[in-house]
Amino acid sequence: MDTNRTPSERADALEERQMQMLGDRIVTRSLLYYLADGERSLGTGFAVGSGKRLLMGEDPRLPAMPEKPTLLDFFALRFAPGPQQHLLQSANLAQKNGLPEKMVLACLLHDIAVCGFIRSDHGYWGAQLVEPYVDEEVSWAIRMHQCLRFFPDESVGYGYPDNYVRMFGPDYKPEPYIVAEYERARKHRWYMSARMICVNDLYSFDPDTVVKMEQFADIIGRHFRQPKEGLGNDNTPTSHMWRTLRRPCNAL
Ligand SMILES: [Fe+2]
Ligand SMILES: [Fe+2]
Repeated sequence: MDTNRTPSERADALEERQMQMLGDRIVTRSLLYYLADGERSLGTGFAVGSGKRLLMGEDPRLPAMPEKPTLLDFFALRFAPGPQQHLLQSANLAQKNGLPEKMVLACLLHDIAVCGFIRSDHGYWGAQLVEPYVDEEVSWAIRMHQCLRFFPDESVGYGYPDNYVRMFGPDYKPEPYIVAEYERARKHRWYMSARMICVNDLYSFDPDTVVKMEQFADIIGRHFRQPKEGLGNDNTPTSHMWRTLRRPCNAL
């Protein structure tokens, strides 16, 4: 462990190693990656004057994807493997609780943004990502679980999650936009669908239960409209999000 080096020296060394892997192509990163480290920067930017080319196209550091990737390909080749167990266990619980198939799918995808895209406002990003491919009720429920998680509903035995007290502190209060969204969701005809995501959201993982994706292959087949061109190659309002996941370091 190179503890004597500063974080930016370590980042430079990493950049150097990656350039070698990439045949001297420079990997550019989006602002979001830098902001996440508390920096307002674009790093190497456009590498003007370096004489080097920027990485465009497939990224040799990541697993190669098939030409026409499916949802399951993204799970297998892009999304973080660990957090997927949370989705699988939640969908498993929803199935045991007898929820309709499309709601099992909603539980399976509810945190797709956390394990596959962007954590902040994850319900919104996740809903947007899958919206063109699922029933409107499914994406609505995924979007609204963002706010409903913070509010109990004793009628279905849902209390404020204990682990939110641990993770966010006992004084944490949801922001006003979350409160306003909750109030709107409460009056919506699909309120209970979004609430069912919370009810089946397994906050405590069971390390002894391993649920496999194959268990849901048929449900995905019936309720996720996989485009024949492959996710990202199709022409929907969110195709660019899938392409960005596939090639996250395209320079532009
Ligand atoms: Fe969530
Ligand atoms: Fe969750």
